[in-house]
Amino acid sequence: MLKLSKERSEPDQNDPAYLISYAHHLERQARQLETEKQMVESERLRLQREVNNLKVELERLRSPPLFMGYIVEVLDNKTAVVRSTTGPNLVVTVSRQVDINELKPDARVALNQRTFSIVTVLPPTQDPMVQKMELIERPGEKYADVGGLEAQIQELKETVELPLLKPELFEKIGIDPPKGVLLHGPPGTGKTLLAKAVAHETQAAFIRLIGSELVQKFIGEGARLVREIFEFARENAPSILFIDELDAIGSRRLDLATSGDREVQRTLMQLLSELDGFNPRGDVKVVAATNRIDILDPAMLRPGRFDRIIEIPMPNTESRHEIFKIHSSGMNIKGEVDFDYLIQMTEGATGADIKNVCTEAGMFAIRSNRDHVLNDDFSDAIKKTTGEKETTARITTGFI
Ligand SMILES: Nc1ncnc2c1ncn2[C@@H]1O[C@H](COP(=O)(O)OP(=O)(O)O)[C@@H](O)[C@H]1O
Ligand SMILES: [Mg+2]
Repeated sequence: MLKLSKERSEPDQNDPAYLISYAHHLERQARQLETEKQMVESERLRLQREVNNLKVELERLRSPPLFMGYIVEVLDNKTAVVRSTTGPNLVVTVSRQVDINELKPDARVALNQRTFSIVTVLPPTQDPMVQKMELIERPGEKYADVGGLEAQIQELKETVELPLLKPELFEKIGIDPPKGVLLHGPPGTGKTLLAKAVAHETQAAFIRLIGSELVQKFIGEGARLVREIFEFARENAPSILFIDELDAIGSRRLDLATSGDREVQRTLMQLLSELDGFNPRGDVKVVAATNRIDILDPAMLRPGRFDRIIEIPMPNTESRHEIFKIHSSGMNIKGEVDFDYLIQMTEGATGADIKNVCTEAGMFAIRSNRDHVLNDDFSDAIKKTTGEKETTARITTGFI
C-alpha cells in the first residue's frame, strides 16, 4: 500500500511535461528570490547608512567640549596668545587647519580642552551688541516734550547739534567742538529724555548703552563691547552714542580687590581710550548721563573727554508748570485744573514724579468709571504718590 501510494504521488522524473512545469516553477522561484535579494540588499544599505549616522552622532556626543577664548596676539604662524573666558592669558599652538589670516586680535576662537590649542575660528558675535545697545533710529521725543531746562537745551544744541549739523562752522572758526557731553543730576529729572530729544532734532542715529547692564551681563567682555560700540557708532554715523548710567562703569574705585572691580576698571580704561581716540570733528557725538557725578572717576572729567558738563537740576516752579502741561496735554480733562495748587504741592518733585501724578490722576478717573479727568483726580494723585514715596522711603528731599 505504502509503496503504491508513493509511486502514485511521486512524479516520473523523466516525464517531459513534468520537467517543463518543474522548470517553470524553478524560474518563478528564482525570480522571487532575486526580488527578495534586492529588497534585502536595499534594507542592508539603509541599515548601513543608519549605522554610519549613529557612529557620527556617537562621535559627536563623545567629543569633549571646546573652550572659548579671544586672540590677544598672534606670535607666529604656530603660536598665539589667547585670553580664555575663564582664566588667564595663555600661549597656545594653532592647529594646522586654522587659517592664520583669520586670527586677528579679539577674534573668537575655540580651544581644545586639554591642550588649549586653537581648533577653529568662531564667527564674531553680534547678539551682545544687539542686546546691549538700543539703536533707536530716531527717538520720538522732541525738545517740546521737555519741560523747563531751556538753558540746558541751548547748551546741548551748541555742543551736540551744531557740530553734527554744521561742522564747517567750527572748521572755519578753527576750534574743535566738544567731543562729549556729560549730563548729571538727580534721577527722573529728564536726562534720558533730553538725550533722546537731541537725537530727534539732529536726525542722527541714536545708540543707547546702559552702563549697569554692560557691567552686570557681560562680565569679562565689557572692554571689548565698549570698543565694538564705538565702532558701531562710527558705522552708523551721524550718530549720538548715549551712555546712560555712566557711574556703573565710570565710578572711582579705591581698591580693586575683586576680579569684578578689575573688570569694571578695564571697561572704564577702554572707554577713556575710546573717548581720547576719536575725532572731535567727526560725526559721532557722545552724550553720557549719571545720577552720581560725585562718585565718577576724576579721569572721566578731564578735558578732552566729557568737556562739557551740564547739570540737570530739579525743576523749579516754572518748570514744574511746564512739565504738568506737557504730561496733561493729551488727557481728557473736564473743567479747570488748578495748576498753581499742583505746582505748590509738588515742591521737590522731579519730572518723572509729575508724569506719575498725571498717570495716577487718569487712574483715579478710570476707577470712578469716568471717561474724563477732574481737578480732584490730580490732587488725589498727588496725595497718593507722595504717600507712596514716604512709605517706600524713595522720597526726594522736599517732595512731601
Ligand atoms: N523736564 C521734563 N519734562 C518733561 N518730562 C519729564 C522731565 N523730566 C522727566 N520727565 C518724565 O519722566 C520720565 C523719566 O525721566 P528720565 O529722562 O528717564 O530721567 P533721568 O534719565 O534723568 O533719570 C521721562 O520719560 C518723562 O516722561
Ligand atoms: Mg535716565
